[in-house]
Amino acid sequence: MEIFAHRGASGSRPENTIAAFREAAGLPIAGVEFDVHLSGDGVPVVIHDETVDRTTDGSGYVKDLTLEELKQLSAGCRFSDEFSDERIPTLREVLELFRDKPHRLNIELKSDVFPYPGMREKVIAMVREFGIGDRIILSSFDHVTLAAAKREAPDIETGMLFVEILADARSAASGIGADALHPALPFSVREPGRRAAAEGAVLRVFTVNEPEHALMVREAGARAIFTDYPDRMLKLFK
Ligand code: G3P
Ligand code: MG
Repeated sequence: MEIFAHRGASGSRPENTIAAFREAAGLPIAGVEFDVHLSGDGVPVVIHDETVDRTTDGSGYVKDLTLEELKQLSAGCRFSDEFSDERIPTLREVLELFRDKPHRLNIELKSDVFPYPGMREKVIAMVREFGIGDRIILSSFDHVTLAAAKREAPDIETGMLFVEILADARSAASGIGADALHPALPFSVREPGRRAAAEGAVLRVFTVNEPEHALMVREAGARAIFTDYPDRMLKLFK
């Protein structure tokens, strides 16, 4: 079972921060997942929500704040005072951290609510600049953006995110050129998910934090899990 650290090692560190990514980078796991939005001045930044309210000491939409304004916020103080110096990372900072590491990087394009014109192109251009296309997985719940990414960068793997128990997920994925299925846990353990895995589809399943769930997902044939607790899952699957 491949283990991907979800938002970095977000069980023990504030999600989507350099601290969470450093922790993940030190573990012998397959990869790390993180979420990308675009700042008001057009810089790809790593944060989960459309707003900064939940994970920082600021408020407002990411799209309405410049990178300089975003960098003034603490991305760690809500998790613990110990991490109050953590900032919202740029995509560039995260790619630099993993440049010489073996980990695969799953960049989730969070264009679900706001379309962020130009974000997809900027992400692909940065991946090219770093020369790490073979280690990247682009994923999104926004299947329109994911299809466009595959057209523009056919060599970069894409994963179709979804939460439904789709009756025919492989057809849906093939319709947008997606290489892998990135379902929520229920699909992976139900008949359509088991069938897809048995037919050769690559399933990476989110978000799996309970050992009992992880064992179910493995038994159902999935390739990988996204987990907030990569250390816990390493022990389980050692
Ligand atoms: O990519 C897997 C997972 O991160 C998708 O959901 O909301 O945690 O970004 P979310
Ligand atoms: Mg995500």
